[in-house]
Amino acid sequence: MNDAAQHDDGTQHDATQHGNPRHHGAESGDPGPMSRRSVLWTTASVAGAGLALGGLGAGTASAAPVPDPQSAGAEQASAPRRQGRTMVGVPFDRRSTVRVGLVGLGNRGGSMIDLFLAMEGVRVVAVCDPVRAKAERAAAKVGAAGQPSPAVYTNGENDYENLCRRGDIDFVYVATPWDFHFEMARTALLNGKHVGVECPIALRLDELWELVDLSERTRRHCMQLENCCYGRNEMRVLRMAHAGLFGDLLHGAGAYNHDLRGLMFDPEYYEGPWRRLWHTRLRGDLYPNHGFGPVANYMDINRGDRAVSITSVGSPSLGLAEYRRNNMPPGDPSWKETYIESDRTISLVQTAKGRVIRLEHDVSTPHPYSRINSLGGTKGVFEDYPARIYIEPDHTNDAWGDFSRYAQWDHWLWKEHANPPGGHGGMDYLLVFRLMQCMRLGLVPDFDVYDAATWTAPVPLSHLSIKAKGAPQQIPDFTRGEWKKARSGMDSEQPEQI
Ligand SMILES: NC(=O)c1ccc[n+]([C@@H]2O[C@H](COP(=O)([O-])OP(=O)(O)OC[C@H]3O[C@@H](n4cnc5c(N)ncnc54)[C@H](O)[C@@H]3O)[C@@H](O)[C@H]2O)c1
Repeated sequence: MNDAAQHDDGTQHDATQHGNPRHHGAESGDPGPMSRRSVLWTTASVAGAGLALGGLGAGTASAAPVPDPQSAGAEQASAPRRQGRTMVGVPFDRRSTVRVGLVGLGNRGGSMIDLFLAMEGVRVVAVCDPVRAKAERAAAKVGAAGQPSPAVYTNGENDYENLCRRGDIDFVYVATPWDFHFEMARTALLNGKHVGVECPIALRLDELWELVDLSERTRRHCMQLENCCYGRNEMRVLRMAHAGLFGDLLHGAGAYNHDLRGLMFDPEYYEGPWRRLWHTRLRGDLYPNHGFGPVANYMDINRGDRAVSITSVGSPSLGLAEYRRNNMPPGDPSWKETYIESDRTISLVQTAKGRVIRLEHDVSTPHPYSRINSLGGTKGVFEDYPARIYIEPDHTNDAWGDFSRYAQWDHWLWKEHANPPGGHGGMDYLLVFRLMQCMRLGLVPDFDVYDAATWTAPVPLSHLSIKAKGAPQQIPDFTRGEWKKARSGMDSEQPEQI
């Protein structure tokens, strides 16, 4: 996953107040969800971690006192009483056409819409972005694809609620700043829609539990759309792992190490400084999903094994301040910001079977792009960036082997689509293709709300662990015991009807 690849040079930024959550909510005195988010925005640059972190582990409002990290972790590890029925193994209702609404049409949503429009049996019914130019550009793409003009929602930051209320939408796709993800997923579920959200799906443990409960109650799937799970190498390693080529699995690693300094300080790239401002609020792994998702799949997390605890440490926070010193003119708004996020966060996740997963996050220092993507077992190891392999009996001479020689292990999706179009080397296309296929054919999705919650839990828990000087934090069992059942996920069977 490479955010830079999402940059659309044709973007016309209309930096109205509507597009920037910092200008909303607290000033208007609106009650409800917006007021909490506005607290986060307004306190961010002044208070750093302070208020905004209060609820990360404990499920309290953001102005609540910071909980004791140890007890917050333990408290969240015991599952609240189930209010609905499990979503494990629940298929979509079959339908010939999937009707989609898109919320957030910036770098990501503005390019993902092309993929939805490229799919057979998919109609884009509505688009939403408070920046009118972006919504209208997306609507024009729908028309250019030969579909009826979509409904366009541009009336402020709550207009997505009206999109969610429509009766003619099956699936809502959310690609907005992180602050909005939870409320948008929640609203979509409450309005009877399946929902897919960009990473991270939420930022607090109580929000993750609420999405689990809502998915179970509403009988709608709530999914983290983790495109990196569909990378060619990731899918090949997955199949090889399940076929036993690595032996008994022992360890893995995943990361989001991506130098975003230039983009985060570029006033034209993101819609406002939302992404940089997270570095004023939280010390921890802000973006674990791209690294965690694929390794969790290799190890059948929630399908036979479970992520049980996480221990995190963080480096000093120096990279963004140094970049600003060297690149930003005096008077730039960024000079008011105090960065607290560790330049590098390193976490160790332990699984119920005793395996170890190392997660890294670093978007604020020079580094070639890497998700690490490694897996090791009793018969050998794979490491990515660049891809290399060492498994017995093929390799016994202490030298890495050529991973391209294992193409016979490619997932059927990659055999069927040798050169998928779209960004990120084709994994975006395969994600959308497979999801829409599951919805049209009435299949069980490759991942569900339990995976979304598990892959995202390191955001709040790494913060709590760092705060507690590396003390382990328990990762909740979002499946409430169902993780013990083996079941397929990404390693799917090719359906007969495509
Ligand atoms: N999976 C990937 O490979 C990948 C790549 C890039 C970005 N992302 C994720 O996608 C999301 C968006 O990132 P981006 O780079 O497109 O950011 P962006 O700032 O370019 O776009 C966000 C868009 O959301 C709109 N928006 C803001 N508030 C809204 C609201 N209340 N209702 C509707 N729209 C609203 C903004 O106007 C903007 O157009 C983030 O979660 C990011 O992490 C994922």
